[in-house]
Amino acid sequence: MSKVLEVNNLRVDIPTEQGTVHAVKGISFSLNQGETLCLVGESGSGKSMTALSIVGLQTPRARVTAERLELLGKPLNSLSQRQLNQLRGKDVAIIFQDPMTALNPTLTIERQMTEGVMRHEGVRRQDARTRAIDLLNKVGIPQATERLYQYPHQFSGGQRQRIMIAMALMGKPSLLIADEPTTALDVTIQAQILDLIRTLATELDFALLMITHDFGVVAAMADRVSVMYGGKIVESGPACEVLKSPQHPYTQGLIACIPVPGRTTPGSRLPVIDHEKLAVKELS
Ligand SMILES: Nc1ncnc2c1ncn2[C@@H]1O[C@H](COP(=O)(O)OP(=O)(O)OP(=O)(O)O)[C@@H](O)[C@H]1O
Ligand SMILES: [Mg+2]
Repeated sequence: MSKVLEVNNLRVDIPTEQGTVHAVKGISFSLNQGETLCLVGESGSGKSMTALSIVGLQTPRARVTAERLELLGKPLNSLSQRQLNQLRGKDVAIIFQDPMTALNPTLTIERQMTEGVMRHEGVRRQDARTRAIDLLNKVGIPQATERLYQYPHQFSGGQRQRIMIAMALMGKPSLLIADEPTTALDVTIQAQILDLIRTLATELDFALLMITHDFGVVAAMADRVSVMYGGKIVESGPACEVLKSPQHPYTQGLIACIPVPGRTTPGSRLPVIDHEKLAVKELS
């Protein structure tokens, strides 16, 4: 299996007026073709900063350093913004939580889906349209041929997220990064979208970096999982092993917080993670 992404000792520091935020404190992981890695952790643990700095979309004042940050063997941290722009959408694509912020409300889906591959890869309009229709069909948008000419507001939230996924796959990326792609959707739609991403990852054989705070998502789709806490990876391993016997107290806490039908007594209190104890553990 070929290596798609190699991240070694990645750090992200953000200078602010109150001092420097060490958002990511030297994390390492890699991802092979066709493999799904879930980066899981609570809010503020550094998941999005990790994802954004891989594709060069971090906030401009952030300082990103890494011993190695390679996509398909190409060192990402030595590329210019222009080279990174070319890479995005082609070798790597990213989808976010809220499709409405990523879709342009004033442009048709056709314009938004075809523009990138026409500009970056020189694909002819007719071929780009055919690819777009094919992908919209794949992600389950009915009557794709006609709907291609509609605007984002003419679609439901779930459909917009499906369109985002189709758009991300237009350049046939080797790596798809999905940053909490379903948290803005209701639960039944969440399950459908996760199922869709998993099916597409198998069929199109791309590497998937799935970012989530939900161990349910890990159980549903991860081959491997890395648990982030306070900007560090505190535990990594095959998803089934980490789920079955988590080693780090934070992972144990996260998993214990999931209500399990038949095991959790209705009305009982779920465990709460004791951050003070974990912080002490980190210091010692
Ligand atoms: N633009 C910014 N300026 C300063 N600090 C920031 C900025 N963006 C993020 N941070 C800080 O970096 C840390 C990591 O944030 P990040 O967005 O990666 O968390 P996350 O794990 O994605 O959380 P969530 O689950 O809420 O999306 C947090 O402490 C956050 O406050
Ligand atoms: Mg985030």
